[in-house]
Amino acid sequence: MTLQEAILARHSVRAYKGQPLTDADARALQDKIEQLNREGQLHIQLIRNEPKAFLGPFARYGKFRGVTDYLVMAGVKADDLDDRIGYYGEQLVLFAQTIGLSTCWVGLSYTKIPGTYVLNDGEVIQAYIAIGYGATQGVTHKIKRIDQVSNVSDDSPEWFRRGVEAALLAPTAINQQKFSFELLPTEDGQLPRVLAKRHFSLVGYTQMDLGIAKYHFELGAGKDNFVWA
Ligand SMILES: Cc1cc2nc3c(=O)[nH]c(=O)nc-3n(C[C@H](O)[C@H](O)[C@H](O)COP(=O)(O)O)c2cc1C
Repeated sequence: MTLQEAILARHSVRAYKGQPLTDADARALQDKIEQLNREGQLHIQLIRNEPKAFLGPFARYGKFRGVTDYLVMAGVKADDLDDRIGYYGEQLVLFAQTIGLSTCWVGLSYTKIPGTYVLNDGEVIQAYIAIGYGATQGVTHKIKRIDQVSNVSDDSPEWFRRGVEAALLAPTAINQQKFSFELLPTEDGQLPRVLAKRHFSLVGYTQMDLGIAKYHFELGAGKDNFVWA
C-alpha cells in the first residue's frame, strides 16, 4: 500500500483485536519513530503490550476496546510543539496503515500510566495514538467541501485541488476540520506559495490538526509543486 492509498484507507479505529504488536511490526515502527524523532526534535515513544492506558473511564467514554499498544506523543514544550506532533505523528499513522495497522489519535480519552513512558527535562505529553490490529477498519466520516476550506477555483492548478482533497481526509479532533489552505499569487520565477491556517475552536487541538492536515496536503499536492508561505 502506498501512502496515497493509506490516506484513502485510513479511518480512526477504536476497537482492536487485543493482540499485541508482533516483534516485526514493532521493529518497523521503532525504526520510523527514531527517524521522525530526529527530524522533528520529538520524543515519540512506542509503548507495547500495556492495556491499562485505554481501560480507564476516559477510554470507556471514547469507546476504546482491545488497545494493547500505543504511541506517546511527547516533546519539549515549545510554541510549535503541537504542529510538529501533528505533522510527524501523522507520518507514523499513515506508515502504520501501509503495514496493515490501524490507529486513532487520542487527545483526551487515555490515562497516563506512570513508569511506561520517559519524560526528559521540559518535555510534555500532548496526545496518545492507539495502534494495533483493528477489529474493524473504521468508517468514512462526513467531510467538508474543498471550497469550504480553500480558495480553490476553476483556474486552480490540479496539484492544489489534490492537496486540499488529501487534507480533508486527515483526522482532526472531533472531526472539526478547522483549517484552510490558500494558494497565494505566484511571484515571477518563484514556486507557488500555499498558506495553511488554523481557525478558532472551543475544543482546541487546532494546531495539532493543522500539522496533520499539512502532511496530507503535501502528499496530495506533491512537495515539489509549492512552498509553504
Ligand atoms: C488531535 C486529535 C485528537 C483526537 N482525540 C480523540 C479522543 O480523545 N478520543 C477519540 O475517540 N477520538 C479522538 N480523535 C479522533 C477523531 O475523532 C477522528 O479523527 C475524527 O472523528 C475523524 O474521523 P477519522 O479519523 O475516522 O477520519 C482525535 C483526533 C485528533 C486528530
